[in-house]
Amino acid sequence: MDHTKWTPELEIGIPFVDADHRVLVSLLYQTETCIEQREETALLGSVLSALVEYVSYHFAREEKLFEGCGYAGADFHIKIHRDLEKEVLALCRRFEDDPQSVEADEVHDFLHDWLVEHIVGHDFAFRSACIGNEKAIAAAAAMPFFKGGGDKAVTATEWGSLRVLVIDDNPNMLNIIETILTIGGIENIELTESATEGLARLAKRPADVVFCDWVMEDMNGAEFARHAAEMEPGTKVVLLSGYSIDVVRQRSAGAGISGYLEKPITATGLLEMLAGLLPPGRS
Ligand SMILES: [Fe+2]
Ligand SMILES: [Fe+2]
Repeated sequence: MDHTKWTPELEIGIPFVDADHRVLVSLLYQTETCIEQREETALLGSVLSALVEYVSYHFAREEKLFEGCGYAGADFHIKIHRDLEKEVLALCRRFEDDPQSVEADEVHDFLHDWLVEHIVGHDFAFRSACIGNEKAIAAAAAMPFFKGGGDKAVTATEWGSLRVLVIDDNPNMLNIIETILTIGGIENIELTESATEGLARLAKRPADVVFCDWVMEDMNGAEFARHAAEMEPGTKVVLLSGYSIDVVRQRSAGAGISGYLEKPITATGLLEMLAGLLPPGRS
């Protein structure tokens, strides 16, 4: 199977639109990889969830751009967006109900057609109407993916200075978490597949928040959190697990865990957790 990849022909020339399309291509690629490698349901569910969330966000940004530019083809384009959103959502719902019913080739064909047909066939149509309208482009580009938990307003510059360490023995899980953190505006992300290596990285430089898998070969998430706290008291560790939060909370009692996320994760859920752990002024 040929994976969906970014190619220069997909470049529209409006930086935030191209950046969004690159994220979508990356999410499509990760979806195809997870299906092909028969990844666990919780992981593929996390990728599909991020895809649905990012599709909605991207369409909202494009539609704000149309509004700012007074694009004549807006109504037609917006209708296509709504139909595509429904299709992607239906695919995800079907996956949630019966993961086995979602075949790799089907997802590849659907997502690839979606990408090529929509970007090349429709997104290129608004290019000439919008390119050069810097005010409208800046307004749409300024829309954040994650607006902050509760009344907190997230500013990109503050999130850009955070250091986040992610530990998971599954590289595909590391990929999706990195994608989510990147779209949330976090620039300083370290990834490792081993808890021991994670501790070594923390010894060199503390992290603001650590996202750590619960089940790993060298030690579990609670053991990791205990070691991390010995090295740097107050290290914030969030445990991720396919088990229910209640079970993991019980088994990690006393380890000083700052938060729990159950897989499949959502992009918004992960960023909300991060925002909730930061001291005032950093989120
Ligand atoms: Fe688009
Ligand atoms: Fe579009």
